[in-house]
Amino acid sequence: MDNVGQRIEQLTTELNEYNHRYYVLNAPIISDYEFDQLLKELESLEQAHPELAKSNSPTKRVGGDITEKFEKVKHKYPMLSLSNTYNREEIIEWESRVHKGLGAGVDLFSLVEIEYVMELKYDGLAISLTYENGELIRGVTRGDGETGEDITANVRTIRSIPLKLRGNHPGLFEIRGEVFMPKAEFERLNAERLAKGEEPYANPRNTAAGTLKQQDSAEVAKRKLDCFLYYVYADDVAYNNHFDAISHASDWGFKTPPALLRYIEKTTTVDGIMAFIEHWDKARHDLPFDIDGVVVKVNRYAQQEELGLTTKSPRWAIAYKFKAETVSTLLHKITYQVGRTGAITPVANLEPVFLAGTTVKRASLHNADQIEKLDIREDDYVFVEKGGEIIPKVVGVDTTRRTEDSKPHSYITQCPECGTELVRREGEALHYCPNENGCAPQIKGKMEHFISRKAMNIEGMGSETISGLHDQGLLRNAAGIYDLRSEQLLGIEFTVTDEFGENPKKRSMQEKSVNNLMAGIEASKQVPFDRVLFALGIRFVGETVAKKLAKHFKTIDAIASATFDQLIEAEEIGDKIAQSILDWFAIEGNRNILERLRIAGLQLALAEDESAPTSDTLKGLTFVVSGVFQHFSRDSIKASIESNGGKVSGSISKKTSYVLAGDNMGPEKRKKAEELGVKIIDEAEYIQMISGE
Ligand code: IVH
Repeated sequence: MDNVGQRIEQLTTELNEYNHRYYVLNAPIISDYEFDQLLKELESLEQAHPELAKSNSPTKRVGGDITEKFEKVKHKYPMLSLSNTYNREEIIEWESRVHKGLGAGVDLFSLVEIEYVMELKYDGLAISLTYENGELIRGVTRGDGETGEDITANVRTIRSIPLKLRGNHPGLFEIRGEVFMPKAEFERLNAERLAKGEEPYANPRNTAAGTLKQQDSAEVAKRKLDCFLYYVYADDVAYNNHFDAISHASDWGFKTPPALLRYIEKTTTVDGIMAFIEHWDKARHDLPFDIDGVVVKVNRYAQQEELGLTTKSPRWAIAYKFKAETVSTLLHKITYQVGRTGAITPVANLEPVFLAGTTVKRASLHNADQIEKLDIREDDYVFVEKGGEIIPKVVGVDTTRRTEDSKPHSYITQCPECGTELVRREGEALHYCPNENGCAPQIKGKMEHFISRKAMNIEGMGSETISGLHDQGLLRNAAGIYDLRSEQLLGIEFTVTDEFGENPKKRSMQEKSVNNLMAGIEASKQVPFDRVLFALGIRFVGETVAKKLAKHFKTIDAIASATFDQLIEAEEIGDKIAQSILDWFAIEGNRNILERLRIAGLQLALAEDESAPTSDTLKGLTFVVSGVFQHFSRDSIKASIESNGGKVSGSISKKTSYVLAGDNMGPEKRKKAEELGVKIIDEAEYIQMISGE
């Protein structure tokens, strides 16, 4: 055992070092393969000896811990925001306020030397990290500034955040920084989504925010978030200013802004501040991550303290926000896009123009109201802006350049794809094409969803194949996939375009890809019922709802014939979902597709072994599951209860037989269980229970 303990420790140290070299210093010293081998070794040792696994093990980087509910944590120091400035005058005003605040009087004014630190204003989310004895013990979001949420499990997956510190660091301290998604990762994620037929995310910031709030840390680990640290709260340290704190933090293993790249700089003058701002206003587009401005901080702690805080922000720091860049260009034509849901988006087709690092040819016009409000017309010169969103938008019209024969734009009334009269639901900004089963982009969208990874996962088929086969009349709906024959596909040509529908390239299907596709289609016939149900694309029936429905009703026929009241009896099925299911089955076209899928041999009922419990050890017992477990994921422990004949419930009541508690069980749940006198058991007791000992 001792040997195992030593090996675990050695692997941990080595992996932490390689990780730091790779993600913080950008200078790897071993190959990914070698890294993975060591990580695998550590993983298997920890699995075999769970008692030796540490909460800050490098294996935590890949996630797996689930946080059911993020606990609220009060910040030791409030997480303030910064006041914003937008021009040189405002910087001068701030700088003189700082001088006044620190000057003993007008005469002494010039004697006070003030050093400023300038940094990038990273466009992400603030995070507070607490370290005790060199170990990361907590990661908390900003929340409302007073209280944030504990997202430690997710934070552990961010590779540039050290789990164990190096060097001579304080015993207990807090460090704050910004978590963000690098541009390349954002683009990779969106390319993946587009290929699966999903809507792309709007911008890296929101995507990072959504990612950090995921309950399953394994999902967070898949998205390569990053973090720069920008403020240290520590006592008894050997430095007296912010700049040195940042450089010490770098020695402790944190990723801090490199001075060599001018991410951080010192100055004592307004000119120095402005030079930094001007440099980054231009150079920001070449950075591998988004910034929305620059932050200027008074360097010395004593001076920071003297200046103090207002209720909202420190007086010793200020943000300078970059303006969204605007250019003017000719709007040639307004066209319309039909989305997968039938939503219509008006698009401005522009004379190509260079803006914020890229050439812009198209911009969003949002909706009919926006066009009317700004009175945007074809052949106008329009102002185009690129803000935080990746898609540029038209923000105004240069009416001085409008020609005399210009006419107001009239919005379309019929679908540009299928000619159906558009509808606009009450209170909604967008027009929709209601022709769900007869409008090409909507049909394609449904099929793309059907084949996607979490649905039927048909290998060898992508959105281009779908689109090509549809346009050539070989595929009209999901059921048609199972009628495809190799002879039809061989040599068939289709066009591949980039995400903007541009740069078309021709491709033809060769024997290998045809075989691959046919094998993918055949394999999908074994996809379990709940995923088939999800693949049907019934509105509001996502992955989880599909699982619940499958478990409750067991067959598609039982769902199809269920009444509204029967539907809402199932766990998590509310009025909205129930109505949507009824609506879906009421459409004859949908029922036809379903019958054809049945003939094709898809799984339209739970497999025997999924529906029948394998033992009745837990018969008559109801469990509430809370916290994180060593040997089970949350889903697998629930499945284990059910396959042993027990029931799982979401909330504790008098009917609950046991609360099954893992690590980090919520305190409210514990309190409730104690109040109602429900017995709390741990994982070991549970395992004993089902093994019948
Ligand atoms: S210092 C008390 N430095 O901007 C001072 N903030 O509006 C705390 N931010 O919520 C902030 N880059 O998330 C600081 N280099 C930087 C920053 C930065 C981005 C964010 C931070 C904060 C917001 C303030």
